[in-house]
Amino acid sequence: MTERNLYATWVEIDLQALSSNVRWIAQTTQKSVMAIVKANAYGHGSVQAARAALKGGATWLGVARLEEALDLRAADIQAPLLIMGYVPVARMADAIRQQISLTVWESAQVQAAASQASLTGDHARVHLKVDTGMSRLGVQIEHAATMAQIISSTPGVILEGIFTHFARADEHEQQPTDQQEKQFFALLDSLHSQSIQPAWIHAYNSAASLWRSSNRVNLVRPGISIYGLHPSNECLLPPAFRPVLSWKAVLSQVKTLPPGRGVSYGHEYITHANELIGTIPVGYADGLRRNKPNEVLVGGKRVPIVARVCMDQVMVQLDAVQNAHAGDEVVIIGSQGDQSITAEEVGARWGTINYDVVCGISARVVRVYR
Ligand SMILES: Cc1ncc(COP(=O)(O)O)c(C=O)c1O
Repeated sequence: MTERNLYATWVEIDLQALSSNVRWIAQTTQKSVMAIVKANAYGHGSVQAARAALKGGATWLGVARLEEALDLRAADIQAPLLIMGYVPVARMADAIRQQISLTVWESAQVQAAASQASLTGDHARVHLKVDTGMSRLGVQIEHAATMAQIISSTPGVILEGIFTHFARADEHEQQPTDQQEKQFFALLDSLHSQSIQPAWIHAYNSAASLWRSSNRVNLVRPGISIYGLHPSNECLLPPAFRPVLSWKAVLSQVKTLPPGRGVSYGHEYITHANELIGTIPVGYADGLRRNKPNEVLVGGKRVPIVARVCMDQVMVQLDAVQNAHAGDEVVIIGSQGDQSITAEEVGARWGTINYDVVCGISARVVRVYR
């Protein structure tokens, strides 16, 4: 049985490609790798992606939320695991009990982590997040050394790591990232002089892992690149990387409509002549955006999505395809014959980025692992 016989729409995940992308990063950077598997591993399925990343040589996993971390532990993934975002105080003990590392940026969080740790009998492992210019999350750089001292002197809490995040690492213009890195390294110098040396020092996302190299960091945090997707139009992956995800569907119906027939809600598309129209069981509830224009592959040809995208379905104009039939495979992202549609192309069409496209493929689309 192929997927075509089993599902209306599905995502295929090439786990070997994911492992091989991670291996490339580990070998090239010569650093430990924290595979970023937040947001259901950028839509790829967190548990399977995490396992494949570990197979490829990652030694850490990074997520954004407690629930994401607990899902990995529930799947018996015991690798070191960092929650890079906010964890409510009332849930910190859940993380501490499962040896999940927390990110902190305020002293109140450190006190909370200490008291939650005392409830569990374990130590709280924390990474200090330093804001060097992203202005999103983190202690301001001028207060970072004090925070590191507070953490180091708080019983029950271990300053396991320190990190920052770059705002513009994927741009040709590297000066803003140089500036952020410089501030971070100056902070490390100052901590070093106070004998504060966290075991893990990290700053590099995918783009920075590709373009930068420093022996001041010992862990890199790639996300998008492990899925074989380009960090940006300016920061392209080397050819060794392979995309991990394809998104497919089947034609649920194919019909010839006479001229002048309105198609879909609002009849925004009206047939000009006898036209072959196909219905695809994929809609905006699956993550297919309502933006126009949109294209998919059928019979190895690019065909336009016509008319409004519905919640669960959409129509395509199939005149370019010879012998299109219900049950034929449709490719939304991926290859068919000698044609391919990348997540980057779809992102450009939708006025967004590849990250958003793959994260937006909803949970109801079945993930099939290879
Ligand atoms: C703190 C942090 N580190 C690393 C990453 C991975 O970034 P990328 O997917 O660009 O490699 C992200 C992703 O947004 C992040 O928020």
